[in-house]
Amino acid sequence: MAVNGTGNGAMAVNGTGNGTTGPSKTVLVTGGAGYIGSHAVLQLLAAGFRAVVVDSLGNSSELAVRRVAALAGEHARNLSFHKVDIRDKDGLEKVFSSTRFDAVIHFAGLKAVGESVQKPLLYYDHNIVGTINLLEVMAAHGCKKLVFSSSAAVYGSPKNSPCTEEFPLTPHNPYGRTKLIAEEICRDIYRSDPEWRIILLRYFNPVGAHPSGYLGEDPRGTPNNLMPFVQQVAVGRRPSVTIFGNNYATKDGTGVRDYIHVVDLAEGHVAALRKLFDNSSNIGCEAYNLGTGKGTSVLEIVNEFEKASGKKIPLVIGQRRPGDAEILFSVARKAERELNWKAKYGITEMCRDQWNWASKNPYGYESPDSPKQNGSNSH
Ligand code: NAD
Ligand code: UFG
Repeated sequence: MAVNGTGNGAMAVNGTGNGTTGPSKTVLVTGGAGYIGSHAVLQLLAAGFRAVVVDSLGNSSELAVRRVAALAGEHARNLSFHKVDIRDKDGLEKVFSSTRFDAVIHFAGLKAVGESVQKPLLYYDHNIVGTINLLEVMAAHGCKKLVFSSSAAVYGSPKNSPCTEEFPLTPHNPYGRTKLIAEEICRDIYRSDPEWRIILLRYFNPVGAHPSGYLGEDPRGTPNNLMPFVQQVAVGRRPSVTIFGNNYATKDGTGVRDYIHVVDLAEGHVAALRKLFDNSSNIGCEAYNLGTGKGTSVLEIVNEFEKASGKKIPLVIGQRRPGDAEILFSVARKAERELNWKAKYGITEMCRDQWNWASKNPYGYESPDSPKQNGSNSH
């Protein structure tokens, strides 16, 4: 496999595999260098799609794309990468002018809830202006099939769980509002032009990593989410994890969430694409929860991670985090019924794979003795 930089922000990843039939569909993946996007791109390639990644690399590393290529084997020839910010409409226009896309998966955006409260305009800029740019360029090029990364954040803190897609949409923070606004934009576009086929995927709590240990979450700065924090404690980068409240009305007093293995989530995107390309069904603009349907407390998942890693995770009991839901987990039956998708993995596999990634890459993609800085390892 050869990885060629073209010097103009575009990278072609050419495999030397001897497959004879080319992929039938080409998918643009915005944010494909990120945590969920990189796993999804790998699953797309394995499923026989051609994937063109655009990413600003604002919260990710190009090494993630190289590792996807390394893991994809002969499918790597169907992967290419462009360093483009989706707020740069001309940049997007160039990508669309060079390739005809059958569909788009739109992951690109900012996702830190706390930061969105501090810098709302930044979030509206990336998540709304960027999305509008993308939709305009798609429409101009006649590409009207979209899978959008939404979030359980659109539900806010529902009074009851499990949470169905019909629950009220009342996000609590600017990040969640950007997801709801983007969903509404998608619904309006479909009403204005029924040729659009749009699937909105509302993710619950993605954790874990690719079982190879070569792809995973690598947040910049202090992690906002529980599992990246736990993993950094396990590898000695931080002394302890603070539990945000142990007096909730839950089984052990700590918050309950629906953790979902990132590979299951990635598979959800392949299932969504298949639905988009299945002309026998009407799609419209439809939202689906992607979760496991199981609630796990903070203490339960930390205990599971301790078992997987053999590491003691020192815990400090802290205050509740403002805006946190007490219990939030999904009913994902709609996805099972209509997308033919169901999460396969439980928290044991999530923690096993999270630790495998953490122990092989204690400092993420930039780890000093990281095995594949050159993207040339094979598995
Ligand atoms: P991530 O930060 O790892 O990936 C997002 C990617 O988008 C990054 O590679 C980043 O560089 C890129 N990006 C950001 N702004 C961009 C822009 N303006 N132009 C081009 N690229 C840009 O995050 P992730 O966890 O992989 O999340 C992917 C999507 O899923 C996001 O839209 C996020 O809001 C959504 N989501 C994530 C979670 C979660 O807990 N991880 C939960 C629900 C929804
Ligand atoms: N938690 C801690 N300590 C930490 C971090 C988190 O105790 O250091 C707790 C939280 O209070 C919560 C649970 O761990 O009970 C999970 O918290 P995360 O921050 O990992 O995840 P959230 O459920 O708060 O939010 C995540 C994403 C959002 C997304 C949401 C969807 O950050 O973008 O899942 O459910 F919208």
